[in-house]
Amino acid sequence: MRYKYDLDKLNFSYSPVDYTVRCYFSNGQWGEIEISESDMISVPLTATGMQYGQTAFEGLKAYKHEDGRVRVFRVNDSAKRMARACWGIGMIEVPENLFCEMVRMLVSKNIDYVPGWGSGCSLYIRPVLFGLTPRVEVEPASEFVLTMCCSPVGDYFKGGFKAYPYMLVRDYDRAAPLGTGKYKVGGNYAASFRASLISHEMGCVSEIFLDAKEKKYIDECSSANIFAIRGNSFITPNSSTILPSITNDSLKQIAKDMGMSVECRRIAVDELNDMDEVATCGTAAVVAPISKIVDPTMKKTYCYGDEPGRVCRALYEALIAIQFGNAKDVHGWLSEV
Ligand SMILES: Cc1ncc(COP(=O)(O)O)c(C=O)c1O
Repeated sequence: MRYKYDLDKLNFSYSPVDYTVRCYFSNGQWGEIEISESDMISVPLTATGMQYGQTAFEGLKAYKHEDGRVRVFRVNDSAKRMARACWGIGMIEVPENLFCEMVRMLVSKNIDYVPGWGSGCSLYIRPVLFGLTPRVEVEPASEFVLTMCCSPVGDYFKGGFKAYPYMLVRDYDRAAPLGTGKYKVGGNYAASFRASLISHEMGCVSEIFLDAKEKKYIDECSSANIFAIRGNSFITPNSSTILPSITNDSLKQIAKDMGMSVECRRIAVDELNDMDEVATCGTAAVVAPISKIVDPTMKKTYCYGDEPGRVCRALYEALIAIQFGNAKDVHGWLSEV
């Protein structure tokens, strides 16, 4: 191991490891998977990934279990989502088996960096594909590179599983109705940064975007989906402009397994008044309960309590129990490396 970390005491920031992997696509075909000791890459200044944001990424985690083995969560679903994003912005679609093999190689080469079972930490994997062809004309690339790096990580938010304040955004949109919101592409994140800076200035951890067309319905955060609990229902937005979160999909399944009803529908902003619990979800934080949602434009605050709600906690604990191998993987979500 070239780097020394206290693997059981991490936050969610990038810590380099020994190896990265990459694979180039040129002349209509994928090359061999390359293993590198560097996390740098040489890119033309005029590459479409640099100039036009022709880039898609993924985020998934590997977990060490009590038996010492390392397993990756829903890697095939991540691969499928990346292929859809590639299609969405005119890039070559990464084959699922190439994606999964690269993840396997990356994790096994860096296996010593996977935090120990019981630490609550994991290995975060970040695949990125981008256009390499130098172009000053606005055209998609014909050459691409898929790179993958990883980093041992702990809690996304400093305080761990706690309730956090969020801000409702009315002055900026993250994604247009027929735009790229449903893909995990670089431009969506750049589009959210201005609102994100404002939400931090207001003392919130993140921001919640509304549907761009009517500004009536809850969409999602810049890096997480949102869900609400009302009675025995798990309610989450159905919108063409949000990323289909793998965590949210898993929580919906767990909610059903717990006997809850799952409603996937539009959620009007006004309904925030009626919800018992509201939380965000994604690979990084898994579930982040919301203490309050501040709507500065309307001068209104929706409060859900300073402690995580009972149902959010139950869902979170059920999901991490599967991820860390403390509960049976009944849905076949884990792949051994
Ligand atoms: C915009 C956005 N929505 C939702 C999510 C959650 O998706 P997942 O659960 O697959 O990580 C992410 C990524 O973490 C995201 O960037």
